[in-house]
Amino acid sequence: MILEVKDLSVSYKSKLKYVDALKRVSWGIKEGEILGIVGESGSGKSTLALSILNLLPFNSKTQGEIIFNHKNIFKAKEKESEVLRGNQIGLIFQEPASTFNPVLSISYQFNEILRSKLKIKNKESREKIIFDSLEKTRVRDQKRILKSYPHQLSGGQLQRVAIAVAIALQPTLLIADEPTSSLDVTIESQIVHLFKELRDKYKLTIIFITHNLDLVKALCDRVVVLYQGQVREVKTKEELFENPEDEYTKSLLDSFSELEG
Ligand SMILES: Nc1ncnc2c1ncn2[C@@H]1O[C@H](COP(=O)(O)OP(=O)(O)O)[C@@H](O)[C@H]1O
Ligand SMILES: [Mg+2]
Repeated sequence: MILEVKDLSVSYKSKLKYVDALKRVSWGIKEGEILGIVGESGSGKSTLALSILNLLPFNSKTQGEIIFNHKNIFKAKEKESEVLRGNQIGLIFQEPASTFNPVLSISYQFNEILRSKLKIKNKESREKIIFDSLEKTRVRDQKRILKSYPHQLSGGQLQRVAIAVAIALQPTLLIADEPTSSLDVTIESQIVHLFKELRDKYKLTIIFITHNLDLVKALCDRVVVLYQGQVREVKTKEELFENPEDEYTKSLLDSFSELEG
């Protein structure tokens, strides 16, 4: 296992009450695997993603462990957490626009990230990595894209660039938190295909968070089903679709096959 979540509970304190976002959640991911985390809105998917990067808000409380590289992420010093974020574990958000600052060009932001996260001072070296990453994520019209500002690109283009920025730092693990749910369906399937290619060609390990079983079917090797902060089932994709045991999983699959027709 490259990453192991052990008995993880996360609660948020808001003005009036505590919200238990995750309740004693356990699962792991193997090297080179694409693991799906599937669950409806509010089931705790983003809380999981933020926990792994040690990025939970200050009104949260955690119990349990997340082991990465034989170390508990929650015990990491701030310096170690900085290396964890981006360099070791990349994160792709649902809204590609939220990855970028609207008033700075893509080129400027890409360069800044390489400067701060990889400490590359030489401009030519940075450019080589930038074009190489854009190539890997199949961004066309690269020079124009680099000159652009975020709002001048489509959601699909921007998400591809966000993925390019993430893989430029050469993380071993990539977490994608509903990366296609703001895109239309054709673009969605292209991006899903891209994730598959990144795994197959570059051996990236991927946690793919979604509420969409179609995408699980197209992309994932194994699946964790989350419901109201609890793990209901961890199975290979084939087992999940053919032999669901949990009642909630069954109801998910029922509504899925109705859509499939
Ligand atoms: N910063 C926060 N403060 C208080 N409650 C939160 C916060 N973030 C998430 N929650 C609550 O935690 C639960 C899980 O949220 P989240 O992890 O965002 O689920 P998902 O990504 O599956 O939609 C929800 O009930 C949500 O309202
Ligand atoms: Mg979410």
